[in-house]
Parts: sequence; C-alpha cells; structure tokens
Amino acid sequence: MAASSSYSGLPMLLLLTLVVLSSLMAAHGGNFYQDFDLTWGDHRAKIMNGGQLLSLSLDRASGSGFRSKREYLLGRIDMQIKLVAGNSAGTVTAYYLSSQGPTHDEIDFEFLGNLSGDPYVLHTNVFTQGKGNREQQFYLWFDPTKNFHTYSVVWNQLNIIFLVDNTPIRVFKNAESIGVPFPKNQAMRIYSSLWNADDWATQGGRVKTDWTKAPFTATYKNFNAQTCSGTSCTSSSSSFSDGAWKSQQLDAYSLRRLRWVQKNYMIYNYCTDLKRFPQGPPPECRL
Ligand SMILES: *[C@@H]1O[C@H](CO)[C@@H](O)[C@H](O)[C@H]1NC(C)=O
Repeated sequence: MAASSSYSGLPMLLLLTLVVLSSLMAAHGGNFYQDFDLTWGDHRAKIMNGGQLLSLSLDRASGSGFRSKREYLLGRIDMQIKLVAGNSAGTVTAYYLSSQGPTHDEIDFEFLGNLSGDPYVLHTNVFTQGKGNREQQFYLWFDPTKNFHTYSVVWNQLNIIFLVDNTPIRVFKNAESIGVPFPKNQAMRIYSSLWNADDWATQGGRVKTDWTKAPFTATYKNFNAQTCSGTSCTSSSSSFSDGAWKSQQLDAYSLRRLRWVQKNYMIYNYCTDLKRFPQGPPPECRL
C-alpha cells in the first residue's frame, strides 16, 4: 500500500517539476539580459521590461549596437523588430549573423530607412569564406514601423532560408557540389546596429538624415534561437525544440510564397545583374 502510494506520487512530482521548470524557462524566454551584450553607443542601447524589450537609438553623436553572448553553428534564429518610424531616411538598421576573420561567413538583413510614407528597403547578403557580393533587395508588403514583425534565419546543412513573418523571401542553397563554399564550419554571433549611412542608404544617398527628427529608435523583442548539439535540440525561449529546422527546405507552399515575394517585392537580384556579371552570374545562381 505504502509502496503503491509513493509510486503514484512520483508522476505528480515529475509533473510539478516540469511545470515549475517550464515557467522558469518561459520567464527567461527571449531574455535580452541573458542572451545579449550592449556593445556600442552607451545609453543609446537599452534593455527594458526585465529583459523583454531592447531598443537601439541613433542621434547626431552616435548610433548603437548589441551582440549575442553566444555563438551559433546552424540553427533557427527569430527576432521581432519594429523599425525606426516616420522620416527614417539615411538610417540603417543592420541585423545579421557573422563569424570573424578574413574568411568569415555572414548572413545579413539590413533595413534601409526612407522618407515618411516611402518604402523601406530590405537588403540581404550572404558571405562565404570572406566573399559576399550576393545582394538581393526587397520592399516589404507591410509598414515595418507600425508593428513588430518577425525576421528569421533557418540555417542548416542544406540551405539558408531568410523569412519575414514566416514567409520565405530568399534561399541560399548549399552549392558545395558545384564548388561554392557553404557556411557550416564557422560559428556565428548575432549582431545588430542602428547607424547613419546617409551617404548611400536612401535613394542612393540623395536623401539625407533629418537630424531634427533624432533620436531615431528601433525596438526588438521575442528573440528565439533553436540549436542542436549532438542529438539534443533546445530553444532559448522554451524548454523544447523539435529540431524541425534541421532538415527544413521549401515545400510546395513555401515555394509559392517565395515566388510571390520575388515577383512582387524583389527590387534587386545579383543573379540577374548582367552588367555586373557580363560573363554570366555566379555558379550558385544556376541552382
Ligand atoms: C525610398 O523611396 C523611393 C521612392 O518611392 C524608392 O525609390 C526607394 O527605393 C525607397 N527606399 C530607399 C531605401 O531608398
């Protein structure tokens, strides 16, 4: 009798432990204090609401930035960002993953500001072994300054998928079989910065930053990184990850979404820039 009652107590204890553990993890979910260091711009970079919110700002004296404490090697990284509102011309909000050194790898999102009512440009690039020159640029199908939107990277052995609110906008496939290096051996940190680039960012540098509107502010929340080491996969904002990102490629539905974005919102693609590559586009463009 005693044995059976203590036996039936065990699952209850286990359940309680799990509940307590998962609420602890949830409280730490996307905690900016835990996951990031503010690296540039003094008080212009701030973590607020007990770690739930981070903001960067830019004024005439300086921009600001932050960096992940951890390095990541393959994973799915999600961040929600609300970009500089109003007249953001001349400002650039960069959000990217990068390793270090002359042969570094990099996966870039850069948001180029604009005059009020004119569209932001989302600039993307992929560097492998120190070599970039793989720009693709897009308009967005929403105003990225009104609300938070989710910008994600799925980075596995097969491909790198750039997603906006879970819609794929770009895929960089592993083309090692045709001699193109693929970033899969160098761990990367996550970086973000808000800075002034009015010499080139907006309408080719013709529109300058209006400093009477400073400070300019971008806000971040709900960071989540899913990674695996060995056979165990984790997620920084909850205790479990199914590791689905590890083999994620575009299915028929996401391929249709990608085509929709590329047809309606893509404004530059290095793969079709014949002036730049008169001998034909780089090999990965043929995949
Ligand atoms: C800003 O708006 C102009 C006019 O609509 C557009 O041509 C340009 O691509 C937009 N974005 C940037 C970053 O210049």
